[in-house]
Amino acid sequence: MILVTGAAGKTGQAVVRALLAKNQAVRTLVRNEAQSECMASVGDTDIVIGDMSVESVLSNVFEGIRSVYHICPNMHPDELNIGLAMISAAKNVGVTQFVFHSVLHPQIEAMPHHWQKMRVEEALFASAIPFTILQPAAYMQNILVEWENIVQQGLIRLPYSSESKGSPVDLNDVADVASVALSERGHIGAIYELCGPDVLTYQEQAIILSTHIDREVYVDQMSLDEWKTQAYGVGLSTYSVESLLKMFSYYDEHGFWGSSLVLCALLQRPPISFVEFVHSHFKRMIND
Ligand SMILES: NC(=O)c1ccc[n+]([C@@H]2O[C@H](COP(=O)([O-])OP(=O)(O)OC[C@H]3O[C@@H](n4cnc5c(N)ncnc54)[C@H](OP(=O)(O)O)[C@@H]3O)[C@@H](O)[C@H]2O)c1
Repeated sequence: MILVTGAAGKTGQAVVRALLAKNQAVRTLVRNEAQSECMASVGDTDIVIGDMSVESVLSNVFEGIRSVYHICPNMHPDELNIGLAMISAAKNVGVTQFVFHSVLHPQIEAMPHHWQKMRVEEALFASAIPFTILQPAAYMQNILVEWENIVQQGLIRLPYSSESKGSPVDLNDVADVASVALSERGHIGAIYELCGPDVLTYQEQAIILSTHIDREVYVDQMSLDEWKTQAYGVGLSTYSVESLLKMFSYYDEHGFWGSSLVLCALLQRPPISFVEFVHSHFKRMIND
């Protein structure tokens, strides 16, 4: 039985789908009834509702578990403590594989959510639990939050430079790697950087979008102050806002990208390119 934490988020749902497609037995940890219904619609039947930061929840949910795929909620201020508690609970039941959903370049101290993940990785090394670590780049799916702006106004609004380079990866490719790492042999002790096949600036992404949705798409850089006002307006926490501002400054100065060779090797097929992603998602959404 494989436990997936943070299962009802976008990463978790993709990972659970990929595991169920390989006929793996999956238990999911979710936060509330609505998320439980969501996982049932994905096809899971062993769903536990609980708060992953509570020790008693972890000791219950780990009963009978052989492997865990740990996904910490995005921009969680307690990411390190949650990771440590998860490692401890996994060790108590003697799991045979702990897969940690980390991030590309966790060693960047300037980005708090990366640094917390690095310290969870370090604790995993010291735990003596057989581990696998996945380090994905930013997902291609992140651009879908801009969908309405792109289609209605031909605009992508960013709080950093449009010349910032990234190597976006399709979340479904990441999920396929997760299912491979959990269902095939040879992945214990591995750390996998998972980057998409194209290193692209946002200007270049806008050009690709333009050709696929039949309208010019421009990138507009908004100020950090404007972004901050919007972020607090929609209820983001102070930790999220401050961490994201640091991430934007890092992206602005250095970009955030890597090589797709590891992803290609693990998938044993070419990864989804940004052009293919746009073609399948945006054409479908326009036609719906
Ligand atoms: N987005 C990217 O491009 C990217 C790239 C690389 C790595 N990552 C990493 O991927 C991870 C997952 O990101 P995501 O966007 O899929 O996450 P997410 O949407 O935040 O999903 C996490 C899920 O966990 C739930 N949750 C929150 N607090 C909980 C708690 N205390 N106990 C139990 N469940 C709880 C959330 O519920 P609520 O919705 O109710 O909060 C949500 O359903 C993050 O660690 C992120 O850093 C993301």
